[in-house]
Amino acid sequence: MLANRRILLIIGGGIAAYKALDLIRRLKGAGASVTPVLTKGGAEFVTALSVGALARVKVHQDLFDLTDEAEMGHIQLSRAADLLVVAPATADILAKMAGGRADDLASTLLLATDKRVLVAPAMNVRMWTHPATQRNVERLKADGVLFVGPEVGEMACGETGPGRMAEPEAILAAIGASLGDGPLKGRHVIVTSGPTHEPIDPVRYIANRSSGAQGTALAAALRDLGARVTFVTGPATVPPPAGVTVVPAQTAAHMAAAVEAALPADAAVMAAAVADWRVANASTRKMKKDASGKAPELQFAENPDILARLSQGPERPKLVVGFAAETDDLVANATAKRARKGCDWIVANDVRPETGIMGGSDNAITLVSAMGAEPWPRMPKDEVARRLAARIADALAKG
Ligand code: CTP
Repeated sequence: MLANRRILLIIGGGIAAYKALDLIRRLKGAGASVTPVLTKGGAEFVTALSVGALARVKVHQDLFDLTDEAEMGHIQLSRAADLLVVAPATADILAKMAGGRADDLASTLLLATDKRVLVAPAMNVRMWTHPATQRNVERLKADGVLFVGPEVGEMACGETGPGRMAEPEAILAAIGASLGDGPLKGRHVIVTSGPTHEPIDPVRYIANRSSGAQGTALAAALRDLGARVTFVTGPATVPPPAGVTVVPAQTAAHMAAAVEAALPADAAVMAAAVADWRVANASTRKMKKDASGKAPELQFAENPDILARLSQGPERPKLVVGFAAETDDLVANATAKRARKGCDWIVANDVRPETGIMGGSDNAITLVSAMGAEPWPRMPKDEVARRLAARIADALAKG
């Protein structure tokens, strides 16, 4: 996604500067080139040596470095990039940007550039919530500056609240979205993921072992190709990806309503392990043991089939992808399921316990489509997600 993209990364002075090293590593891994600029404050937290070693280029630090001025010049430096990223962006950098000051290399580049600027603020919670900083943030947003974070959490200074820099993964996603020209640009994709919890009473529920790992990886891969992703997730154990619209849903009924509300979409990928049944006589009060020792009798009612409804409904996305978790006759069952539900593809998983797939990090899928069954080799779930996302992009491009 970021292959051959040029990122000018300004590293400001803050404890979060160490995360900029991880960001550089991830950007390089995604195929981008990184031109690092280390502010005076930034150099107090990370060294030019470590930044330069990771970026594999010279680190720019000083506006009045005459060699730099002769070779490139700050104007050129600010324009040679596709995107300027400031991470961490301190209160001081935001103030300089909002005020249009240019008294060091970083602020001069930010003023001279003709490219978009993405900032990842990081500062103490009081500094972030201070009216002066909030004023600057409003001004910068009005100027078209893009923001990722800050996140709420415990900070290095010991205080808790908004101010913590977004994680490198989230910044990477925001960079992808800012450049947003992947093959799924302008497309809306709905992804369901995770298990559902069907209540028995206010404290007990029926669930399944889905971790949400494959659905989460898929949502991230679709996002990385430029899609706008609505991620409808049951109570999964894996956290949702950054840079997508997260819609939490507890039960199958909630999930069905959330999917319907997210329409229209170009594609839908139903990776959730939706409970087929709910407890029809769920109690609104906690069920108690009584003296008779009689076990409660649960009655079940069938849940709405979200995939079938969507595939056969009036607002059917162009491409509908379902999942099948099978322990026997994988291809035959998946093929029958595809026909029964009316979806375009079924991603069939062999979930026999000895495969270690359910809850594990690898997956071995068979893609069942109108063309037949295509077994894929076993690979990490992230890789399955990337390949599936690429296939989805191809299918939508073909029309
Ligand atoms: N699914 C759904 N809504 C349901 C049940 C399932 O959207 N109420 C979707 C899942 O997200 C998945 C696909 O349907 O994409 C297959 O689910 P599965 O439970 O395997 O199918 P079933 O119809 O329950 O078939 P079986 O009983 O053979 O497992």
